[in-house]
Amino acid sequence: GMVRKPAAFISTISDERGAELMYSGVKISEVFESEMGIGGVISLLWFKRRLPAHCTKFIEMALMLTADHGPAVSGAMNTIITSRAGKDLVSSLVSGLLTIGDRFGGALDDAAKEFSGAYDSGLTPREFVDKMRKAQRLIPGIGHKIKSTSNPDYRVEVVKEFVKKHFPSSRMLDYALAVERVTTAKKDTLILNVDGCLAVCFVDLLRDSGAFTDEEANEQLNIGFLNGVFVLGRSIGFIGHHLDQKRLRAPLYRHPADDFMISMQTPERIVGNLK
Ligand code: ACO
Ligand code: LMR
Repeated sequence: GMVRKPAAFISTISDERGAELMYSGVKISEVFESEMGIGGVISLLWFKRRLPAHCTKFIEMALMLTADHGPAVSGAMNTIITSRAGKDLVSSLVSGLLTIGDRFGGALDDAAKEFSGAYDSGLTPREFVDKMRKAQRLIPGIGHKIKSTSNPDYRVEVVKEFVKKHFPSSRMLDYALAVERVTTAKKDTLILNVDGCLAVCFVDLLRDSGAFTDEEANEQLNIGFLNGVFVLGRSIGFIGHHLDQKRLRAPLYRHPADDFMISMQTPERIVGNLK
């Protein structure tokens, strides 16, 4: 028979060689006929399977509610400043994306790992909080700069309501809400934030929707995809901020000098003096 040259790359999610483009074996015509939406396309390209409607709807919801959170957050500011420096769409977008990480918008994968790890090892919410505090680690997915128990994040309420109504199980969400009761007793800003809430609900989706085996769910959590949800969602907003600045013909930005404390005598660490 024919001897095939060894391949340098293996790829398993899309195929454009035939008459019709396919996503994980599903023809593009079928993608549209089945009205699977962007949630369905993400299921095919990220998880290589069709997910039930409540899951694809949830993915879409996650993208919609992470799409933007105003101009003042780290990423949007970077995008706006870059745009005002005269840069193009891609530069402004990636400048914003580069701020996404442990503190801002990129706590999802770690939140999923920490909460599910604590739950699986049978720690009570209180024991989990104490363990993290002893290790001097912040709990990913907990805390917000402005949202609190008295100023709740409506996005988190929307997610909780959807999951309670449509998911067969919300055991990880329930666990995270019990953790939140412990942390908010200490400080009212230590809420389950939008990263944390989405993360634990995605764990419920992976584990209890019936679409993944336990092994597949764990593999998916280990590879990590959850920060991608925020990156993809917030790209919508960053592109919006770039276009907004261009439309406004906003000039080059220079930050007011009186907003800096410049002192050669200041010790290395002055964290307490920073807003
Ligand atoms: N777990 C445990 N304790 C915490 C946490 C946490 N996640 N976050 C803050 N604290 C504690 C701090 O140790 C501090 O305690 P102290 O007063 O005894 O020293 C107190 O709460 C206040 O901390 P600050 O650093 O002032 O909180 P700030 O409001 O500046 O931080 C932030 C907000 C950055 C979100 C922080 O809570 C955090 O890093 N959380 C974990 C990462 C995370 O989930 N990021 C995503 C946020 S949502 C988003 O970006 C879309
Ligand atoms: C966001 O979605 O960007 C935020 O929750 C962060 C913030 O400080 O508003």
